[in-house]
Amino acid sequence: MRIILIGPPGAGKGTQAERLTKKHGIPAISTGDLFRARVKDPNDPLGLEIKAILDSGKLVPDEITVKMLAERLEKDDCKNGFILDGFPRSVSQAEALEKMLKEKNIKIDAVIQLKVDDKQLVDRISGRFSCSKCKAGYHDTAKQPVVAGVCDSCGAKDSFTRRADDNAETVKGRLNVFHTQTAPILPFYEARGLLKAVDGMAGMDEVTTQIESALTSNNGGSQLPPPKKFG
Ligand code: AP5
Ligand code: MG
Repeated sequence: MRIILIGPPGAGKGTQAERLTKKHGIPAISTGDLFRARVKDPNDPLGLEIKAILDSGKLVPDEITVKMLAERLEKDDCKNGFILDGFPRSVSQAEALEKMLKEKNIKIDAVIQLKVDDKQLVDRISGRFSCSKCKAGYHDTAKQPVVAGVCDSCGAKDSFTRRADDNAETVKGRLNVFHTQTAPILPFYEARGLLKAVDGMAGMDEVTTQIESALTSNNGGSQLPPPKKFG
């Protein structure tokens, strides 16, 4: 199964991608995570360039983003499918992805749009933290670890961290980028019959249920079983 998750910052793309990965056994690829991994080395000039862009909330240029994504899709774990979280984020990226997949003779099964009000997004982002060891995501009120200071997923202690771009100023810029540059890809996928909208304002479990039901009702899917024969 090949799925794209689209939604504004804080919509729950990462949260739902983590769940889809566990359920379907396919990797979740977040371009944001790929970039954050790249900026860790202070001696890497490309990492420094990317860090400045992430801090500003603008989009990293296509020539860097598309290349990084293409390299990631070449890895063995993507053979049976993948979940894209945060890519594509512009019509030019959607076109580049379509071309890339056509060359591999594979198709996207569904594009899931997570719909959330801007006001709720700011609350979500300001309360977000994650485990620096295994990347499991949490929230100050919506999802705290069972034992304070200990990651539910990997058991690491005092490993929680907050993102540098999760500040009020950058969030405003990221939201603006979503509305002006990313939202235009919704009609692009609607025209291809792939777009399924879910209510991202609902609780996390309900959102997961809605996504699973959207995937099941997907008639363009390349991995779905053939219809049952009767009689
Ligand atoms: P990226 O890392 O993708 O950030 P983003 O799109 O801004 O999205 P977030 O990761 O902030 O939110 P999310 O939707 O994953 O929400 P989450 O599940 O964490 O990109 C960062 C930057 O990288 C970009 O600004 C850009 O500069 C660059 N970049 C990335 N991709 C690019 C591309 N393709 N091209 C160019 N540049 C690119 O949830 C948020 C919080 O809410 C969590 O605390 C969670 O616990 C909580 N929560 C989740 N769901 C619910 C729910 N249903 N109810 C209550 N709380 C919830
Ligand atoms: Mg994310």
